[in-house]
Amino acid sequence: MRWMIVRNDEDLACVAYKVIRNEMMAHPEGMTIGLATGSSPMGVYEEWRKDDIDCSHVTTVNLDEYVGLPLDHPNSYHSFMQEYLFDYVKFKESYIPDGTADPVEESARYEDLVRKLGVDLQLLGIGSNGHIAFNEPGTPFDTKTHVTRLTESTRRANQRFFERIEDVPVEAITMGIGTIMRAKKIVLVASGERKAEAVRQMLEGEETTECPATILKHHEDTLVILDEASAASLSEETKRRGRVAFEAFEC
Ligand code: F6R
Repeated sequence: MRWMIVRNDEDLACVAYKVIRNEMMAHPEGMTIGLATGSSPMGVYEEWRKDDIDCSHVTTVNLDEYVGLPLDHPNSYHSFMQEYLFDYVKFKESYIPDGTADPVEESARYEDLVRKLGVDLQLLGIGSNGHIAFNEPGTPFDTKTHVTRLTESTRRANQRFFERIEDVPVEAITMGIGTIMRAKKIVLVASGERKAEAVRQMLEGEETTECPATILKHHEDTLVILDEASAASLSEETKRRGRVAFEAFEC
């Protein structure tokens, strides 16, 4: 696992998007990128929107979707992706789990789809409880795409996108940890102090299902991009190495 500590949100978006862009350029024959939603990738999508690169050879596949929200609901991840990326950038094809379908059947269908596509690069955020996609603490590391019950802390964290806590769905369809680990390359972005403890566990803690992101240590090509606030609980040596890695990167 490699990591980089950047100065601010602009650098974080710049580094992550550069890595994505390089991959897209390196695969003119076609490729698949796994996408995330939430606050973490917003800056990355802003960089993407400003770029005029041709993405007609790129297929996208999102990590997750709430169960029960109509696709055009303002808080569905379908709407999120439309608003922040798909209305601006034209891809070959884009897939997101359908939260209105039978969740168990949809999970199986989506797992097959992701397996057939094969993900070349997966963009990830991290929950303050260490979740990746909606794989909450306690989820076994080998899970496939499945229906998951969101923890109260995740529902509260995501309440900012909804009017009331009661409006936040209780379930989601999510790629499993096993599904995510099959991606050839992973780029995880984290910012803000509320991620600091999860980030410390991921980089310096023991591997445990209680912090799902700790499995990423076993992925052969994962880059973690952190701002100073999310890196605050790391040891001085880990921080030093992360800052040096950023200095070597042109952004
Ligand atoms: C979103 C997702 C989640 C988020 C995580 C962090 O598709 O899978 O794992 O990446 O909850 O959310 P933000 O970025 O809003 O802090």
